[in-house]
Amino acid sequence: MITADMAKTWKIQSYFFHVLLPIRQYMEIFSIVYKQYMENIPLINTVGRLNKDDILMIRRTTDSDRAAIRDIHMSAFGKAQGQEIVELVNGLLGDETAKPLLSLVAEINEKIIGHILFTRAILQPGDQDVSVRILAPLAVSRELQGKGIGGSLIMEGLKQLAESGVDLVFVLGHPSYYPMYGFRPAGAFGFEAPFPIPSAQADAWMVQELKPGLIGNIQGTIRCAEVLDEPQHWRE
Ligand SMILES: CC(C)(COP(=O)(O)OP(=O)(O)OC[C@H]1O[C@@H](n2cnc3c(N)ncnc32)[C@H](O)[C@@H]1OP(=O)(O)O)[C@@H](O)C(=O)NCCC(=O)NCCS
Repeated sequence: MITADMAKTWKIQSYFFHVLLPIRQYMEIFSIVYKQYMENIPLINTVGRLNKDDILMIRRTTDSDRAAIRDIHMSAFGKAQGQEIVELVNGLLGDETAKPLLSLVAEINEKIIGHILFTRAILQPGDQDVSVRILAPLAVSRELQGKGIGGSLIMEGLKQLAESGVDLVFVLGHPSYYPMYGFRPAGAFGFEAPFPIPSAQADAWMVQELKPGLIGNIQGTIRCAEVLDEPQHWRE
């Protein structure tokens, strides 16, 4: 027999499962979408985490990747800085003085989730026979950061550059991040950046040799591609 108390309990349970719970779930979804919209994070079907079945692939970019590359930089750098970085990338990809360049994307299940760019630079005085690249920029989709994707892009890029005969790679970036992938402060070895780096950020200007024995035996000032040769790109 169903008592009045049992009926009341069922009514409360039913109200909880059919009304309150869905409202809470809709509110959660709304707050995520609202946050992404406000921060200009592209609303993508993110993988969210790397599952054991997810396959990370790194490949060279093509012209048809431009929109996806834009989304990655907007996601990683946020609304304020993202636009500047997107313009830098588009400028460098069309800059003859940046070539040869190496532009790689990371993909999971054919979805682009990271991008790295290396462009040509030279060491002055120019009588030193070295092949130089600058790493800038690097970005991983915000939802997938901290899973080794940035590191994989760096290591694959360095491998390909070494195979093509590049000697030195420079970067202006997070001084606690790039040393994990072999970069060391460049100023201490006598390499000047294209624009002066304030002494408080000196460690952010870093170098890695792909051919052993160069660091310590050569020095000079790095000159970068025309599009990168603007002071606003040399503040860490
Ligand atoms: C910096 C960035 C490319 C790293 O890519 P990622 O895939 O998240 O990094 P990885 O998974 O390879 O490495 C993760 C490690 O890097 C560290 N790390 C990430 N961002 C860092 C930062 N800004 N400074 C210092 N360390 C950082 C993490 O703490 C983590 O360390 P742990 O393994 O000891 O926990 C990514 O966080 C990003 O796109 N950031 C925004 C854009 C940006 O700052 N680009 C670089 C400009 S120099």
